Formats: sequence, structure tokens, C-alpha cells
Amino acid sequence: MAIIYNEEKHIFTLNTEHTTYQMKVDNYGFLLHLYYGKKTAGEMDYLLTGYDRGFSGNPYEAGEDRTYSLDVLPQEYPTAGTGDYRNSALIIRNQDGSECCALRYVSHQVKQGKYGLKGLPAVHAPQEEAETLEILMEDPVTRVQALLLYGVLADKDIITRSAKIINGGSGRIVVEKASSACLDFLGGSYDLISFYGRHAMERNFQRSGIVHGTASIGSRRGTSSHQYNPAVIIAQEGTTEDAGSCYGMMFVYSGGFLCEAEKDQFGQTRAIMGLSSDGFHYLLEREEELVVPETVLAYTHEGFSCLSEKYHRCVRENICRGKFADEIRPVLLNSWEASYFHFTGETICSLAREAAEIGIDMVVMDDGWFGKRDDDNSGLGDWYVNEEKLGCTLAELIQRVNRLGVKFGLWIEPEMVSEDSDLYRMHPDWAMQIPGRKPIRGRNQLVLDFSRAEVRNHILERICGVLDQGNVEYVKWDMNRSIAELYSKTTDAGKAAYDYVLGVYDFLERLRERYPDMLIEGCSGGGGRFDAGMLYYTPQIWCSDNTDAVDRVKIQYGTSFFYPASTVASHVSAAPNHQTGRNSSLHTRGVVAMAGVFGYELDICKLTPEQKEEVKEQIGQYRKYAGLIGRGDYYRLSNPFRDEIAAWLFVSEDRGRALLSVVMLEVHGNMTVNYVKLKGLEADSIYEDTESGRCYYGSALMEAGLAMPIELGEYRAYQIELKRKEL
Ligand code: GLA
Repeated sequence: MAIIYNEEKHIFTLNTEHTTYQMKVDNYGFLLHLYYGKKTAGEMDYLLTGYDRGFSGNPYEAGEDRTYSLDVLPQEYPTAGTGDYRNSALIIRNQDGSECCALRYVSHQVKQGKYGLKGLPAVHAPQEEAETLEILMEDPVTRVQALLLYGVLADKDIITRSAKIINGGSGRIVVEKASSACLDFLGGSYDLISFYGRHAMERNFQRSGIVHGTASIGSRRGTSSHQYNPAVIIAQEGTTEDAGSCYGMMFVYSGGFLCEAEKDQFGQTRAIMGLSSDGFHYLLEREEELVVPETVLAYTHEGFSCLSEKYHRCVRENICRGKFADEIRPVLLNSWEASYFHFTGETICSLAREAAEIGIDMVVMDDGWFGKRDDDNSGLGDWYVNEEKLGCTLAELIQRVNRLGVKFGLWIEPEMVSEDSDLYRMHPDWAMQIPGRKPIRGRNQLVLDFSRAEVRNHILERICGVLDQGNVEYVKWDMNRSIAELYSKTTDAGKAAYDYVLGVYDFLERLRERYPDMLIEGCSGGGGRFDAGMLYYTPQIWCSDNTDAVDRVKIQYGTSFFYPASTVASHVSAAPNHQTGRNSSLHTRGVVAMAGVFGYELDICKLTPEQKEEVKEQIGQYRKYAGLIGRGDYYRLSNPFRDEIAAWLFVSEDRGRALLSVVMLEVHGNMTVNYVKLKGLEADSIYEDTESGRCYYGSALMEAGLAMPIELGEYRAYQIELKRKEL
């Protein structure tokens, strides 16, 4: 039993293999948080203290007791209007205009299996591997209810949280802010680790102390965004990769989010993860409900490496779905950086011919194949194959590609419309625009109102009409702007952002169901929607529009804290690189792209015979390591934001095999030697470098490391495969 209820003390304990989470219903019915951290025994309500704190109010029921204040006590789901002046997880505006919701315990249920969320992505697990706790809370005056959901995946050390807000009263209410998780810490000093960025430079690592006041990150862009990723770590000061306490909060949602970390007047820390409250005013009529997307929590006292391992497993096994979740994905060649908008069917066939020669599995025809689309100013929404441009039908093109033994994939951007398109001319009101105002353009395109079923249905029908023309085995789902106008013709503006995301999920789910054998890759100008919500529908995501190997090691480093390599699409592109103009060797580009789902994105027809040979070998190497990369444990061995080298390691689950990758980020005259210490090996086993034949003890590799050679030239890269010697 992972979930235990002590009836006498009204204490709930959630146990995973290494962690304990505990909460208590107090005498007034409020749900207080007691503890989350390393596994403990017994009830921990002794931790609660009560002192008369000036200017921290007391609920009326407390009578003369001035020592009881929700402004000080740790809470599970703090709400506005209860005398807690810290950040709230939930803000409800009642019909009378007041903002108050004082939730009290009503009942609870423990169920076998993991709860699901209607219309939303959520962690899934086999029935026997998870338990669910539902706690029903209610405001006795307004009858507004919150059903707090906890999912416990004991073996994985994962606890999920979500909430359903139900208007059980007679008046209309507006949910002004809704979160799924709150973590209150009684003491300690914590850092907030977040991943900020911009288009083509996503998920940079940032660490700062949580000080008095509130640090908040989030997205108001309608997507989870390039700017801040919806996953953060709360780490005890001093926590490193290998030691120290840290908590992860990963939001399973692809729209706007808000994460707040606050240190209060008594040095207590509160961290909240939930929906963005900007522009969010979710009207609930009687009996209507709002489901708050899930937050996945994990804790370890063994540092970031261990925390990442827990998230990687959870994402791979309990978020990604479908036949590709655990499958080695095809090595693909994408046409974007090969020819951008300028191609014909013949161009694609030439790429396919070379691909077949070299051993690439699939060719993807990126943007530009439909409507009038020779640049990014027109055509979105017109999902009709431009046969004139291709010089053939799609069916013919796919057949030609397939006859070469190469699979075929296609790019789409369903959520968008160009003003210069037949669709927009026909249905200008399908775009999200505020009446009477000119729209805000982004990449010269507008956003279709996917909260409307008729709009989604039309686009889905059109796209299926294309996909049904031939053997399309992969789709890249793109989304190339932020949403500016939160307005819908058919729904309340305050609901538009959330309903839009649910519309996207509905579309994706129907697409998946209709084409279960088709691999879908997510993308939003690269990694602008790299989140666990998308990964529920698309088991891989284009990590960044930046394919420069040197920048990529940083982007992939930041991405690796929560997301496994099996989700990170990564391609070898041309040199000099199109985003930075930087030169790096084909070998280095290959090593970096092999930290994810490997592919190519360049005009391979232009490669010299020697380069083609090298690519062939590279693909051979990748295939050798693909299982290790896709399913092995991943370790960060350096911090590329600080160190001269970028180094990472994959280790097979049985510890028998490892792949070390290193990129030298700097060269200097008379260099010092860089030593790379490995992790995750068996200390007492001997590992052989499969190329040089040299043998080392696991303990030596982990404690002293390997010396990286000093060689002239920029951005040299090394890949070393190690195999355990079976004695
Ligand atoms: C986005 C994607 C690119 C490419 C272009 C096409 O920027 O991230 O990979 O598909 O759109 O317009």
C-alpha cells in the first residue's frame, strides 16, 4: 500500500520506494502539508507549531486561539481569502465579487491505478503499478469544490498532483488562478533552478537562491514557450549533480504556465506550479468543472543526476505512448536546411536516392509543399498538395521514395493560417483576433481558434485528406508563433487560452488514433513547446531550430534535466552552420546529434564522396549505440556553461555498456589536460575501451576519470564505447 490513511489522526501518507509525502486534515478541516522528502516513518504532525504571530490572522473557528494561522502553517492547496498572504494555488472570484474560497475536507478515496484527466495529458501506468488518492475539499459557504488528485508510482518515486475545480454552488464563479501543486517547506534554504531561453537558444540552466519575496517564471504566450520551460527544480543550497536534496516539478501542459517560488516572513519556502493566471478568467456555471493540468513531482537526496533519471524513466514509460515510445526511431533526413522552401518533387527524390545510398531510413518533406507556399508569408491553412511545384502527385512522390527503400515523412502546421490563403479569405473569423482591432502578426501568420470544434474538424479533415494520399510514416507538427490575442468568437475570452490547448490535444489525439503507426514529432520553432504535455502525443520533439553543435550541447544539457534523449530530436546540419556561421567537423556534429534521436538536415547531394563515406560510418555507429542512447541512463559529466568541455554518458541498464561523448568547447595555447570522470558504472568491474582495447576498473573511471587528449583545432569531439569484461 503506497497510500496510507491514519483515521484517528487524519493523516495521509504517500510512500514511494525512497520518498514520503505526508499531509493532515486539521481540526478545522483544512488540509495541511506535513512533509515531502526522503523516506521517513511515523506521523510527522509534531512538526506543526503554533505561535501568536502579529498580523497573521486567525480563522473565526479558532475562537480565542491566536496561535492558529493559515498565514504560517504549511498547506496542501492554499487558496485566496483565507488569511494566508503568501501566493495562492487557487483564486476564485465568487458571484458577489469576493475572492474567497476556504476549502475544508469532505471525504477521500483511495483507488488502485493512476487517475486520468479528461482531455488532458497525464502520467499513465499499469493498474498494478500506481495508486490514486482523491481528496474532496469544499468551501462550506459557496459550495465550490476542489477534488485534489494524487497519483503515486511507488517504484518510480513519482507523485503526481492535479485538481478539479467544481462549481457545486448556485452562483457563477470565475477561477482566476489555478495550480495543480504546491510544496510548502517549513525550513531550509533553497535554490530555484529553471531553464530560460529564446528562439534558437532554449533551456539555458539558471540557478538562483530563493530569497524573501517571490521569484516567478512562466509563459503568457499560449504555448509553454522557448523563454521558460515548465519544469523546475527546488534544490537545497549546495546540491550538486551527485549529492543533496532536490525536488522536481514538471508541468504536463503545453500552454501558458506559472511557477512561483517564495520565501515567507518566517523563512519558509513555498513553490507553486500551475496555469498562467494572465488573461485567465475561467467562468464556471453551476456544476461545471475545470481540470487543472498535472504536475509531476519527484524527490531525491542524491543530487540532480538521480532526479533526472527518475524523470527520464517517467517520461519514457509513463508519459510517452504508442508504439514508438520505446522503439528506436528511424534516422531521417529533413529537407528544411537542405532546400528551405525551394524544392520540387525531384529535389526530394534526389535526397531520397542519396539517403538510400548512405543508409538513411526516411526523408521528410518540410515546409513548402502545400497551397501557395514559396516563403513564409502565405499558404498556411491551405492543406492541398501543390502538385505543380512538386511536378507530381504526392502519391507518386511517396511511391518513388518508397521504391528506393526510403520512408516518407511530412511537415504540417495545423494551428496556423496565413492572411494570404484561401482558408483565411473564406473564414477570416476562424483566426484568433479581437473584433475591431488589427491582429498581431507573428511570422506573418495568425493563429486559428482551435478551441472551436468546427475549425479543428475542418483542418483535421484536410490534413487527413493529404495523409491518406500515400504511405506517410511520419509527421512533424509545427507551431511557429506565440499567441497574442486571447479571444474566441465562441467562448469567453478568459477561457480562450486553456480551451485552445485542449483543442490542440483533441486534434492530436484524433490524429494518433487514426494513424497509430505514424510517428509524430512535435515542434514549435524548434523547442518552443518542449514539454511533457506534448510528449504524451508526440514521443519526440525537435529540440531547437539551432543545429549548431556547440550551441546544441548547451541546449541539450538544459533539456536533459527533465527530458530523456529518446525525446530530443537532433540533426547533423551543414557547416558553416546556418544559424551561427560556425564551423565544426562532421564528426563533432555527429557526436552531438547522437545525444538524441539522430538525423540529418542538410543537402547530402552536395557532400563530397569522402563526406558521404563518413556519414555512412556515422549512421553505422549510431545504429550500434541507438539502444543505449534511447534506453540507457544518461549522465551529465560537465557543465558546458562553465567548463571547457561538454561531456555526457549513456550507461546501459545492466551497467555492462557505456558510451562517453566529449566535445572540447575551448582551445588555448599550452592547454591543461581535462579529465572526465564517469558515472553509473560498476566500481569493481573492468571496462574495455572497444576501440583501443585498453581496460580500466569502473572505480578508476569514476573516481579519477579519463584524460582527454590535447589536439589542435576547434571543437574536437570524442566518443568512447566501453564494455564490461565478463570474467
Ligand atoms: C520551424 C521549424 C523548422 C522548420 C520551419 C519551417 O521553424 O522549427 O524546423 O520546419 O519551421 O517553416
